Amino acid sequence: MTSTVHGVIARGPHRPVELAEILVPDPGPGEALVAVQACGVCHTDLHYRQGAINDDFPFLLGHEAAGVVEAVGPGVSEVAPGDFVILNWRAVCGECRACRRGRPWYCFATHNARQPMTLTDGTPLSPALGIGAFADKTLVAAGQCTKVSAEVPATVAGLLGCGVMAGLGAALNTGAVGRGDSVAVIGCGGVGAAAIAGARLAGACRIVAVDVDERKLLVAKEFGATHTIASSGRTNEEVAEEIRAATGGFGADVVIDAVGLPDTYLQAFYGRDLAGTVVLVGVPNPSARLELPLIDVFGRGGALKSSWYGDCLPSRDFPTLIDLHRQGRLPLDRFVSETIGLGDVEAAFSKMRHGDVLRSVVVL
Ligand SMILES: NC(=O)c1ccc[n+]([C@@H]2O[C@H](COP(=O)([O-])OP(=O)(O)OC[C@H]3O[C@@H](n4cnc5c(N)ncnc54)[C@H](O)[C@@H]3O)[C@@H](O)[C@H]2O)c1
Ligand SMILES: [Zn+2]
Ligand SMILES: [Zn+2]
Repeated sequence: MTSTVHGVIARGPHRPVELAEILVPDPGPGEALVAVQACGVCHTDLHYRQGAINDDFPFLLGHEAAGVVEAVGPGVSEVAPGDFVILNWRAVCGECRACRRGRPWYCFATHNARQPMTLTDGTPLSPALGIGAFADKTLVAAGQCTKVSAEVPATVAGLLGCGVMAGLGAALNTGAVGRGDSVAVIGCGGVGAAAIAGARLAGACRIVAVDVDERKLLVAKEFGATHTIASSGRTNEEVAEEIRAATGGFGADVVIDAVGLPDTYLQAFYGRDLAGTVVLVGVPNPSARLELPLIDVFGRGGALKSSWYGDCLPSRDFPTLIDLHRQGRLPLDRFVSETIGLGDVEAAFSKMRHGDVLRSVVVL
């Protein structure tokens, strides 16, 4: 039997999102039907709705979610109805060349539900990041459900489903920040603030926060930034110079670009110490181009890395991070700026663009 529920749909670039009736099939083999309880509004949803990811409209937005498994299809043993789960958008396959070589966080063939969710006229929907959780219910691959302690509210737990995990993992996994390292984070929204929290958790000694919006720098300090740089109106070279000044004149060991513009990438590249690491976690627009003297790529050494979902392994990282939160060592609740309804997503995009929120979280 198919469920008819409400979901937030993007029908084309530059068109406001709308609430529509959608049809969610019962789970088939390997699938799970999840009653969504909360779903954060991530900047990637806005990228989708602007057509900056791909043109597969209509999208069913929302992908940073927690909820309760309502039903599972044949052959599903990893989760059962009633389980409280965080949804993840990289359910590893275990069989691709990355998985076989013991690097499942790079899995090149991650799983999603096979059956499409549709509009009532049968038009198939493209769920954002294979999730589509701005909806009362969503259909995912069972591997996209990671069971965690139900004692943490869904509004908080769901944040690990995307932006907060991406930021924490950019520092902890991709950047491999260690005790005593210096770290700079460019862009202190949900992802960047989480990267700062991750750097603190890892024992970084200096954490430099960079943002064009000074309100975000106050937030960054709350999450552990030791230095802040207001970068609005500054050249890339000036920002890089300020990062170097805040790190003993050398540059940071790890610089995390949580914006994804050519300018912020250049700030990261030149704000980094010799043999340091740049981590790109912000998602660039497909039209963006980068120009760099190749001799600087060689001469500065180190590593230029991208961070897909913080190189996380949901089954390893979600329960651990939830534990750290419950012990009071990771303030996940501080990312929630407001809770809203399904009909408020477009307004939340506007607040995001104006920098008014860290995370708006839809509660269902
Ligand atoms: N790699 C991943 O797996 C992954 C996961 C989630 C989100 N993302 C991406 O991370 C990026 C950030 O997402 P978010 O949800 O934190 O967004 P957000 O809108 O909450 O935060 C963006 C921050 O960047 C700041 N900013 C904008 N332009 C800037 C500039 N030129 N210099 C310095 N700061 C600038 C803004 O003031 C804001 O504080 C987005 O591109 C999003 O798509 C990537
Ligand atoms: Zn794989
Ligand atoms: Zn996201």
